[in-house]
Amino acid sequence: MNILLIGAGGREHTFAWKIKQSSLCKNLYIAPGNAGTETLGINLPVAIADFEAIAKAALVYAIDIILVGPEEPLVKGIVDFFMNNQSTKHIGIIGPAQQAAQLEGSKAYAKSFMHRYNIPTAEYKEFTFLNFEEGCLYIKNHSLPIVLKADGLAAGKGVLICETHIEALAEFELMLIHSKFGDAGNKVVIEEYLTGIEMSIFLLTDGKNYLFLPEAKDYKRIGEGDTGLNTGGMGAVSPVPILTPQLKEKIIRHIATPTVQGLQQDNLHYKGFIFVGLMIENGEPKVIEYNCRMGDPETEVVLPRLKNDFVALLAATINGTLNELAIDIETQAAVAVVAVSGGYPGEYVKGKIIYGLEENIVKGSMVFHAGTIKENENIITTGGRVLIAVSLGDNIKEAAEQSEYILQNIHFTDMKYRSDIGYEFK
Ligand code: AMP
Ligand code: GLY
Repeated sequence: MNILLIGAGGREHTFAWKIKQSSLCKNLYIAPGNAGTETLGINLPVAIADFEAIAKAALVYAIDIILVGPEEPLVKGIVDFFMNNQSTKHIGIIGPAQQAAQLEGSKAYAKSFMHRYNIPTAEYKEFTFLNFEEGCLYIKNHSLPIVLKADGLAAGKGVLICETHIEALAEFELMLIHSKFGDAGNKVVIEEYLTGIEMSIFLLTDGKNYLFLPEAKDYKRIGEGDTGLNTGGMGAVSPVPILTPQLKEKIIRHIATPTVQGLQQDNLHYKGFIFVGLMIENGEPKVIEYNCRMGDPETEVVLPRLKNDFVALLAATINGTLNELAIDIETQAAVAVVAVSGGYPGEYVKGKIIYGLEENIVKGSMVFHAGTIKENENIITTGGRVLIAVSLGDNIKEAAEQSEYILQNIHFTDMKYRSDIGYEFK
């Protein structure tokens, strides 16, 4: 099969690495890819949301399956575009249709979906400009802290946890009246603050059946000890030791199965990954958010623990035959540690040469690329998150030490990483 992968981050390098291990893959193309994906397939200079250009490339290269990595093209309707176009509808595309992608694209849509299907989540109410005054009253009477969420995609910045009513009222006004998050904040979800331990689960569904992939926990804050600003993710671990068989059973019964059945009931087209962010308190899971794709850097620890042929999983997703397959999970632990540019998640400088990549290939470990490109003979930085060291080990401590060891031997100016990924499980 010829496969086209959309995206350019560490998640996509990991997908490419796993796809290339399958004998079912003939040619692999990545649009636009990075310096890491270039070693595994052919990078195409095509932007992730340029549907016309993607369709053209898919036809030229006789693509059988398209795997969409990031949410932007999904929320913009890439799956509908391919399905509704006579010349491209024969191509299998992994991801939800635009309406189903609203599970990630609109917090209010996700909340009402969960409400309708009795899926446990935080109590909430939604407000717009039209009921702004009512929202202010709701905030004043709400317990603290209080969570404000811009309805639409806001580059990971649209969730605010406010410790005082004054702060919440000010942020509420900034979102609804002063368009702090642009159109994404035209509707605001106000919800109850949940406490507990966060973790994520990943489902692969063909629209009827689903498989439960290895779980993960990511580390979003820039600083050690979970301090400082939120980032796209500074590291991840899998497995998550709090996921006991009893908790998994509850998640399947109250969250995973009702989610897939709800999509079916709503007649939504969904052949792809569902990433569910959970809060676990006293053994009870609640949904914090849905994403309509895999996570980054979660993919970097989920796929190395997946023993299945990944292309066979993708093909079964397209064909609606996931019920014929079972997930085969590596018992070893995986830990990903992300190397970022100094200054990230604020301003940072690009174009730094990365040294020591070749020498550091250690058995049982991988170095996945995120913000990199090849220029002349050098690999240079092009983003905030630059590289991800991933190792398998007998336990989280061993895998984390190995990933940190790899990064100790890779250099670019002002490179930073956290040395405490997985700390609570070591
Ligand atoms: P989201 O963009 O929905 O993933 O939210 C970003 C982060 O905000 C989550 O990973 C949580 O750490 C936090 N968060 C979101 N909603 C809540 C909530 N209701 N209670 C506590 N923390 C939350
Ligand atoms: N690591 C969080 C995400 O991919 O959304």
